[in-house]
Amino acid sequence: MIDWRTGSAVRRAAYALAAAAALLAGGCGRKPSDGGGRQIKLAHVLTDKHPVHRAMVRMAELVKQKTGGALTIDIRHSAQLGAEKELIEKVQAGSIQMTKVSSNALEANVDEMGLFALPFLFRDEAHFWKVAEGPIGREILAKLGTAQMKGLTYYDAGARSFYSRRPITGAGDLKGLKIRVQQSPTMIRTMEVLGAIPVGIKFGPALTQQLEKGQRVEAAENNAPSYWTEGHYKSCPHYYLDGHSRAPDVLVMNANVWQSLGEGERTALLEAAAESAEYQKRLWKRETERLYGQLEAKGVKITREVDTAPFIEALKPVYQTLGPERRGWVERIRAVK
Ligand code: GCU
Repeated sequence: MIDWRTGSAVRRAAYALAAAAALLAGGCGRKPSDGGGRQIKLAHVLTDKHPVHRAMVRMAELVKQKTGGALTIDIRHSAQLGAEKELIEKVQAGSIQMTKVSSNALEANVDEMGLFALPFLFRDEAHFWKVAEGPIGREILAKLGTAQMKGLTYYDAGARSFYSRRPITGAGDLKGLKIRVQQSPTMIRTMEVLGAIPVGIKFGPALTQQLEKGQRVEAAENNAPSYWTEGHYKSCPHYYLDGHSRAPDVLVMNANVWQSLGEGERTALLEAAAESAEYQKRLWKRETERLYGQLEAKGVKITREVDTAPFIEALKPVYQTLGPERRGWVERIRAVK
């Protein structure tokens, strides 16, 4: 059922090629004819209505202001330049300089990014931010260096919850359900342990269409802004707020391009990323609350009071089978108070 797991040797070869190409990519992003100004191309899969897109627009404005126009960012939204896996490869190869993807999409490149996918790892939102913005989150972001990328910031992507064409009343309803998963071994494992059938489909129009048809896939999981902006609520009007994982979005850039920037530009970029992330957190809260009302007005049945205990119990095997390294990370994350 899963396309994501096939062709891993081919993928590894592609990464090696991309890494080689990245070495040649230092000059990428220079505007050819304007006397030294540089333009960075940033592509992502969300629509231009999504709060994370709006935060990146803010980020681009701030970068322009802070560098007096020497550095500008051209944003392409709605998967115009490809799905997340392709965007990561393009950044590594230097054919685009920046992308914003889900941490889950980066697990294939940097294993530690998969920690955020672990079900019910974070006690609550405050715990999540304490980890993401503290030493552990910074350490994980720095690991992107091993995959030719520089991590600039996390953006809030809330918690992921299930939605389906059929009603969901508990963990048992997921058994045998064909659920779309991201390209993340941890997410795939989670679905399998729940007895669901994980189906790998790219986020974007293809997923929306497949959910409408309801044959290859009958359900998915995501946060409210993505559920709404992709229109998934139309075919899957049962939204079950179990909040099983808190996988943030991550803003990343090609490491060589990062290295080639002047110190002032790097500072401007980091400051703009951090300021836009703060702005986005506020936007996210406002939007999400508003969206629940809007979804209900469209006839969506939202289950807000979810008993997560049976899920946590059913998902124990995910933790029991972790390797020693990941187990160490989990202990460190749980110890953050
Ligand atoms: C979230 C995230 C996207 C990601 C999507 C997915 O919406 O913001 O970056 O593509 O999940 O489920 O693939």
